[in-house]
Amino acid sequence: MKKLIIANWKMNPASEAEAVRLARSEDFRNVVIAPPFPLIPAVKRALRKSALGAQDVFWKEGGAYTGEVSPRQLKLLGAKYVIIGHSERRALGETDKMVNEKVKAALNEGLKVILCVGESWSVRKKGLAAAKRFVGNQLKKDLAGVNRPMKLKAESLAIAYEPVWAIGTGRADRPKETAEIAVFIKRIIKTKVLYGGSVKAKNVARFLNQEEIGGALVGGASLNPFEFGKIIRAAR
Ligand code: PGA
Repeated sequence: MKKLIIANWKMNPASEAEAVRLARSEDFRNVVIAPPFPLIPAVKRALRKSALGAQDVFWKEGGAYTGEVSPRQLKLLGAKYVIIGHSERRALGETDKMVNEKVKAALNEGLKVILCVGESWSVRKKGLAAAKRFVGNQLKKDLAGVNRPMKLKAESLAIAYEPVWAIGTGRADRPKETAEIAVFIKRIIKTKVLYGGSVKAKNVARFLNQEEIGGALVGGASLNPFEFGKIIRAAR
């Protein structure tokens, strides 16, 4: 199976010109580029091979929701994917209930969802079993009413396992342990499981060599075209 690489630019870069430059240098097949909302149109024009993604979405179709963006609006901009439930959003107050509403609304609109889950260090330091319990609980809440009722196609939802303590810290998980969590996740929902958290050119192959890991969600390293290019080559 082809490995999927998601570039999560977070709140970067600062200008449209930079976004276009970055997009052109990261335009590969099986890659999803997720820029901040205002940069989506410029990035879309720049891409030929990569798919376009967004970093968040709201669950209502329209109305008095200041600052929010609907699934349909994302589709109108050409987004095919949306990242939902990133731990940086959860840290700002996004609950499992909100994540669940977002997942359902995005799938209903035909967007492909990258659902992020992952435990904090206070959980993981108790061991893998504790991490599995935590992630299993998140998935149960985030996917309530999604799996069977929605007759989900495997390609319309991927799970990004992103241990919170590994994000932006330079301290990636151990690939063997990630693979074990991926097997656990696949038992709950049969779909692609990606890894995210300090993915770099020097460690990506060790994750992607694990059969259970279907790709990577890349934050910091996706802002560096040279590093990102090396990640893509390793993914092949
Ligand atoms: P990182 O971020 O690669 O910078 O650790 C990953 C993410 O937040 O998705």
